[in-house]
Amino acid sequence: MAQEVRGVIAPGKDEPVRIETIVVPDPGPGEAVVKVQACGVCHTDLHYKQGGISDDYPFLLGHEAAGVVESVGAGVTDVAPGDFVVLNWRAVCGTCRACLRGRPWYCFDTHNAEQKMTLASTGQELSPALGIGAFAEKTLVAAGQCTKVDPSVSPQVAGLLGCGVMAGIGAAINTGNVGRGDSVAVIGCGGVGDAAIAGSHLAGAAKVIAVDIDDRKLETARSMGATHTVNSRETDPVEAVRELTGGFGADVVIEAVGRPETYRQAFYARDLAGTVVLVGVPTPEMKLELPLLDVFGRGGSLKSSWYGDCLPSRDFPMLVDLHLQGRLPLDKFVTETIGLDEVEQAFDRMHAGDVLRSVVVL
Ligand code: APR
Ligand code: ZN
Ligand code: ZN
Repeated sequence: MAQEVRGVIAPGKDEPVRIETIVVPDPGPGEAVVKVQACGVCHTDLHYKQGGISDDYPFLLGHEAAGVVESVGAGVTDVAPGDFVVLNWRAVCGTCRACLRGRPWYCFDTHNAEQKMTLASTGQELSPALGIGAFAEKTLVAAGQCTKVDPSVSPQVAGLLGCGVMAGIGAAINTGNVGRGDSVAVIGCGGVGDAAIAGSHLAGAAKVIAVDIDDRKLETARSMGATHTVNSRETDPVEAVRELTGGFGADVVIEAVGRPETYRQAFYARDLAGTVVLVGVPTPEMKLELPLLDVFGRGGSLKSSWYGDCLPSRDFPMLVDLHLQGRLPLDKFVTETIGLDEVEQAFDRMHAGDVLRSVVVL
């Protein structure tokens, strides 16, 4: 039996979000209905609302979520009703070329639920943000989007792994392959950069240099594991990173802003043969010009990191366990918990740079 629940909708370009009654169908083959317990507010939700991602309104927003599986459709064996799960927006197929080559984080055939959730009032089909749509009491997803984790973790903490925090931690531990004794610089210390700092600390980096233009952000970065901070409004960050690394530059530099000037800083702040990881998302018109001789002469590698190159089934349970053991301060990313009716205000606070994460708790 389809059910009616409350959800947060972006009705049209730049229109304020509002709560509507939505219809969630019973799970079909390979699908699951999840009772959402917590869902973080991410920049991507704001981009959906503003029209930066697609014009497929109305959107059902929310995609950094954790909850309990309520029911599953035919053929679902990995999760069962009652399981506590974190949702992911990249359920990999297991059979495409990337998956078969052991690089499922580049899967060409990720999937979402096939059935549609609809607006109760008009019957209109909803587009769930990143195939999830979890600012809702319940949501329909592909079963592969559900990853079981230790249920003793709080839902508001677990849900963070579904997007931005995983992107940052994964940029360090997966893409950057930060190891014991490495020096790391992280440019941009918002939620994603702070997660990269926490990930670098976790991986055993000897130096973690936080770079930002805002002293408040640098203070938080220290609490996440940064050993040094540089305000790049006052100090040239390339010089500062070199000085802090014996004149060499960092082994790994993680760019978590997504702008040409900060990418340029990242490029020059790394050691010869060091790695630059781009996790900040640029806009289509951004361009960067670099002397090719510098690319050649510096060696090393330039990488981008999508979703922290994560594999949810491998990374989510591990990171939850490390958090429960007191080795990863995921709780520090939750600035505030809010209700479903406060998403619009949470966008304002996010825009003002006041929060790492506002998390809707249901
Ligand atoms: N130099 C250094 N830091 C900067 C600069 C700059 N020129 N410009 C902005 N910053 C800092 C801000 O002060 C802020 O602390 O970058 C940080 C950006 O943080 P948020 O806006 O909170 O963004 P976040 O959620 O961390 O995401 C960062 O990663 O995944 C992507 O789409 C995401 O592109 C975005 C980036
Ligand atoms: Zn695949
Ligand atoms: Zn997100």
